[in-house]
Amino acid sequence: MNPHAGIPSIKPATGDMFSGRKHVLDLDDFTPDEIQLVLDNTLAMQEVISRSVRKVPALRGRSIVTLFHEPSTRTRVSFEQAGKILSADVINISDSASSAKKGESLYNTALTIQAMQADIIVVRHPHSGSPNFLARHLSSSIINAGDGSHAHPSQALLDLYTIQSHFGNIKNRKVVIVGDILYSRVARSNLWGLTKMGAKVVLCSPPTLIPPDFIKGFPKNHPFASVSITHNLSEAVEGADVIMALRLQAERQGRGRLPSLREYSNLYGINAKTLKLANKDVLIMHPGPMNEGVEIDTEIAHGPHSVIQEQVTNGVAVRMALLYAVASANGGNK
Ligand code: CP
Repeated sequence: MNPHAGIPSIKPATGDMFSGRKHVLDLDDFTPDEIQLVLDNTLAMQEVISRSVRKVPALRGRSIVTLFHEPSTRTRVSFEQAGKILSADVINISDSASSAKKGESLYNTALTIQAMQADIIVVRHPHSGSPNFLARHLSSSIINAGDGSHAHPSQALLDLYTIQSHFGNIKNRKVVIVGDILYSRVARSNLWGLTKMGAKVVLCSPPTLIPPDFIKGFPKNHPFASVSITHNLSEAVEGADVIMALRLQAERQGRGRLPSLREYSNLYGINAKTLKLANKDVLIMHPGPMNEGVEIDTEIAHGPHSVIQEQVTNGVAVRMALLYAVASANGGNK
């Protein structure tokens, strides 16, 4: 394999970096150096995207299947775009168009895809742990594109990249994650990524939307020991460098978690008043899709502090870096 594959500044994902990493299921098992490698290679991928001909042969001869059992716009399209720019063959399978509709199990669907020589399967599924299950039983590489309330590692990586690209570093930045922590896979993967990269993380949510094992805070030897938890938004955002609003996950919540959306929005919605308490150059982030007027006001979502569209743009280059790392750790282009 040509280690640069048409991308002069790429760093090879070999040696200690990504060695033996067949799957990307969450960021819990990433070292800070591995995260930094993906972020550095994202910059190299941005250069490819800025060319007039956006195509390099890095993954020529590789096949990637995206298998989505939940709706998605950003993640599915950006993995497809990322794979195609790297010259992989990309095939998309959605829940409604697969034999899952005829009762086939996820395992048998994935086994069928593997039998057609898929090198990488990018999977989104409503059940937490589904990608881990597939990784245990299949020989294709599995990339988790969001499983239930568990993890969304590529989203966290693009969030880290967006923060780094604005501030130059992530260490010691105050990052406030606001909203539905209980059901948010984005919050969980960001907790791993941000704490590994040295950010000061604050979680802010109603008491009913925080995992019960988080509510008392984390003990000294816990990986999240540095994370603070509060139910008071004004206190949380004071001096914040980043405010990350989360979508209320209506599809996962049972009844009775919130008295009303109006009350939630009054207490936890990001608005002009919230911004006044944060740092003057605060970044407003949201993984999307947004419930404008609920967790974030329209004027803030589309205002000068918002980097929400930038997150989406960065998602393509981050996923290129991730696909490249997984493919090169597992033999590169054929
Ligand atoms: N952030 C995110 O996962 O968005 P999609 O559901 O559109 O992929």
